[in-house]
Order: sequence, then C-alpha cells, then structure tokens
Amino acid sequence: MKIRLFESADECRSAVAMQAIAYMLREPNGAVGLCTGSTTEPIHGMIADIYKKNPFDASGIHTVNADEFLTPKHPDYDGIDITMRPGMYKNLWSVLGIDENHGHMPDCNPADWEAEADKYEKTIRDIGGIGLQILGIGPDAHLGFCLPGTPFGLKSHVEQISKELTEDSIVGGSRKIDPKWGPFYGITMGISTFMKGRQIMPVTVGSHKAEAVQNAILGPVTEAVPASVLQLHPNCVWYMDKAAAEGILGRIDESMIIK
Ligand code: GLP
Repeated sequence: MKIRLFESADECRSAVAMQAIAYMLREPNGAVGLCTGSTTEPIHGMIADIYKKNPFDASGIHTVNADEFLTPKHPDYDGIDITMRPGMYKNLWSVLGIDENHGHMPDCNPADWEAEADKYEKTIRDIGGIGLQILGIGPDAHLGFCLPGTPFGLKSHVEQISKELTEDSIVGGSRKIDPKWGPFYGITMGISTFMKGRQIMPVTVGSHKAEAVQNAILGPVTEAVPASVLQLHPNCVWYMDKAAAEGILGRIDESMIIK
C-alpha cells in the first residue's frame, strides 16, 4: 500500500478527481467504482466541473456504485423508494452523458433482493471488472455497506444497514425515513468484489476518520476492520488529508508516502 498525503480535504478530493479523469482518458471503455457519502460525493462534482471545462468522449465509460439502499418491506412503509440514484444522475451521469446502461447501481426495489445482488456481481464481471475503485471509508473502517465482521470472501450481497444509519442519515431525497420502518437493508459490493478492482483508491478526510485509518493501515488484517484488507491489495494508493493521517504520521515507513 502507498499513501498520498494532502494539507487539506479539498486538495485531497481534487487529486482523486484528477486521477479519475486521467483513468477515463486512458481507458475510454473502462469502469470506475464510486461511492456515495460526504467524502466522495464532492469528488463527483469536481469530476463534472473538470469535464465541463475540458469535455471528452465519456460515452464508453462505466461507473459502478458500491452500494444502494433497498426500499423497506415494512407493512406500514409509505412505499416511496429510498435510492441514491437521483444524486448520481444529477451530479455525474447527466453531465458526462453516462446513460442507464453505463451508470451501474443495484435496483433499489427488486422483487428478489438476493437475485439482484447476484445480478450486480455478474454485471461487474460482464463489463470487464473495475479498473479504478474509488472507496470511501466509514468511521469504523467499513467499505460500502460491508460493516465490521463481514467475511472478506463475500461477493455483492444484501446487508442489514440499520446499525450504521442514524435518524439523520436515513434520508430519501429531502424527507426523513422513520426508524420504525426498519430494519433497513442495502445491496453492497462485497469485500472480494472491491478487492478485484485493478487499482484501489481509498479516500479519507478529517480527524473523525483518523482512528479508522490507523487501524486499517497499522493494525492486523482482520474482518473486524474491513478496510484492513486493503493492506493485501497489490495496487492500492490511499488518498488522505493530514487530519485523517494523524494516527499514522511518524509511525509508518516513510517510503509508503508518495508524492
Ligand atoms: C457509507 C456508504 C459508503 C461510504 C461510507 C463513508 O456508509 N455506504 O459507501 O463510502 O459510508 O461515508 P462518508 O464519506 O460520508 O463518511
């Protein structure tokens, strides 16, 4: 694993956006793995801004989202889908001209959840796998919806997510989702799916991620710390700002840090 260190969150995100653009220019039919969340969504906006100023043919590019919420099956649920799809469309797909055949995300309300997860894994295989996997990391070092304890060998699957969602974060569009409609589930790429990415680029900014970074990079490789699996990937460069790096600075081998 290598590390790229930045003074600020903004510089860090913008370097990731530049890497994503460089990948798309190099591999015009390639696939970029993306995450939603406060760390990586601004990166989608930065990619879109760079593209608007310097347009190129992105019609062959695939994007693959790490996860998607599943519409609750609770009998009192109001029936409106919870989905991250509109945000992806607005921030990225519509700008780059990525159509529904190339902007991949599991269906949020399929008849058969498990079959949809299997189908997602197959889709990723069919498009030739992910060339560049950009990854947000949860404060407990989770990847996608793969929470601590998720077996490393799992492929795309259904995961209960209520453990990680607070009332504030369960938001579909602008409306609150009542916790009483839980438990909530999502479809997520599995750890083994992430690890098949040919290049992995985790991104962490802010001191609230410092413990996750420290445990994932300096601790043992263990399913209790999902991101620790990245130590085993042959082509992983972790992008972070100094605040996220506060637990590892002075404690890692200096040769891990690349300019
Ligand atoms: C969420 C998402 C992940 C995301 C992670 C980090 O649970 N399921 O895909 O990468 O948590 O989110 P944030 O960047 O907001 O901390």
